Amino acid sequence: MSDAKTTTEAKSGGTSAAQAADSSASARAEGKKTPHATDCVMTQIVLPGDSNALGTAFGGRIMQWIDLAAAIACQRHCRSRVVTASIDDVHFVAPVKMGMAVELRARVNAAFRTSMEAGVRIESEDPVTGERAHVCTAYLTFVSIAESGEHLVVPTLVLETDEDRRRHADALERRALRLVRAQGRRARHAEQTAEKK
Ligand SMILES: CC(C)(COP(=O)(O)OP(=O)(O)OC[C@H]1O[C@@H](n2cnc3c(N)ncnc32)[C@H](O)[C@@H]1OP(=O)(O)O)[C@@H](O)C(=O)NCCC(=O)NCCS
Repeated sequence: MSDAKTTTEAKSGGTSAAQAADSSASARAEGKKTPHATDCVMTQIVLPGDSNALGTAFGGRIMQWIDLAAAIACQRHCRSRVVTASIDDVHFVAPVKMGMAVELRARVNAAFRTSMEAGVRIESEDPVTGERAHVCTAYLTFVSIAESGEHLVVPTLVLETDEDRRRHADALERRALRLVRAQGRRARHAEQTAEKK
């Protein structure tokens, strides 16, 4: 069922989505490791099983779709399995009613040593009026992992446009903050574990 209601790439939307998918496909064919070559567009319809008692989408279901779209973008960059290391704070700014379409656009913003940041923009679309609304934006970090579990060094991301460079610079700032927070969390966890012993 979920396969039937999921479309990706050019099937997902109008001309611009198709153009983005074409351009992304050609960048991939050339083997260029650009942000654009990682583009993943996923469209879902909010069905009753995706909704809460208010008739709007579960946040958790949208998070699942975000995780999948971002993982696909990261796998396109590193061509290996990936695991989610963290998801930055997500703020849902508008509800999505049952029956609406949800479009997720994911792209790798930055590649570090063994990890990558993907950004995902989520919009809802009223199927009758075509009206669109921004639902949330999420930033996720994935680590490239071999079958053996070893972390793999990821390819360098080739920044082509000013937009690529702006997103990359923003990603570096976010990474600095998230790693400080992750370190703090690790230290607290180590303290609590030591206290229990
Ligand atoms: C995420 C995970 C791979 C990190 O591995 P680790 O050995 O603890 O950490 P390391 O210090 O070796 O870091 C590996 C990379 O992850 C990054 N990283 C670690 N914790 C992170 C966090 N909380 N947020 C973002 N990046 C993080 C590091 O910066 C490093 O990236 P880099 O090489 O590009 O600098 C590991 O904790 C893990 O496997 N977690 C479970 C993942 C999982 O199952 N996810 C599914 C959801 S439950």
